[in-house]
Amino acid sequence: MSQTNASAVLSVEEAIQARHSVRQYKRDVVIPQETLNEILELAAAAPSSWNLQHWRFLVIQEQANKDALLPIAYGQKQVSDASAVVVILGDLQANLTGRELFDAALEAGSVSQEVRDTMVSQIDGAYTMEHVARDEANRNAGLASMQLMLAAKAKGYDTVPMGGFNRTKLVEALNIPERFTPVMMITIGEAAAPARPTARMPLSQLVINETF
Ligand SMILES: Cc1cc2nc3c(=O)[nH]c(=O)nc-3n(C[C@H](O)[C@H](O)[C@H](O)COP(=O)(O)O)c2cc1C
Repeated sequence: MSQTNASAVLSVEEAIQARHSVRQYKRDVVIPQETLNEILELAAAAPSSWNLQHWRFLVIQEQANKDALLPIAYGQKQVSDASAVVVILGDLQANLTGRELFDAALEAGSVSQEVRDTMVSQIDGAYTMEHVARDEANRNAGLASMQLMLAAKAKGYDTVPMGGFNRTKLVEALNIPERFTPVMMITIGEAAAPARPTARMPLSQLVINETF
């Protein structure tokens, strides 16, 4: 087992350009816990609606646990070979966090009672609408996911985001509470082979100016 610190230090632009989905990893590479924590901290610095921070990071590094993910991820070998698999969870009850955050802010004197009450009632009001909890969980956890991949790249590690897994089996295997929905898996590690080249549509196809 080798512990590496694949530090690269890239600018944001360099990290965006250098990131590609890597599916083949050197096995038995251990990411130093400090580096992994830095990557997760950077991911957690993502913006979120009302700052509710709808993401949780279920981190799997034990080889036996990564191997157990193989059938759940339809045999996609990267879950077993990468150094870590992070299951990004979205919080379906982030309104509860809102209450905690604004109560703490009130106690710390950083918001007034009026602001606290307005924010809590706004959040609770939004969460009475059925689609909101899931939309917000997916939307906001998606932002943290992207940030995690760029942070990993900036520190010299590669990733692949994955939606190809059996949700029911994953929830069962990892005892994921009902409050959280698995948004995606991200593998992190050192590339054993480069990513497949991919192209992007031109701006002429992507950009709509002013109105359709
Ligand atoms: C939500 C999401 C789910 C994905 N699921 C998988 C997956 O299950 N397995 C896989 O190998 N790649 C998966 N990918 C990676 C995409 O295939 C890849 O991002 C895309 O082809 C562009 O390539 P690039 O990431 O190298 O730029 C997924 C990407 C996203 C954003």
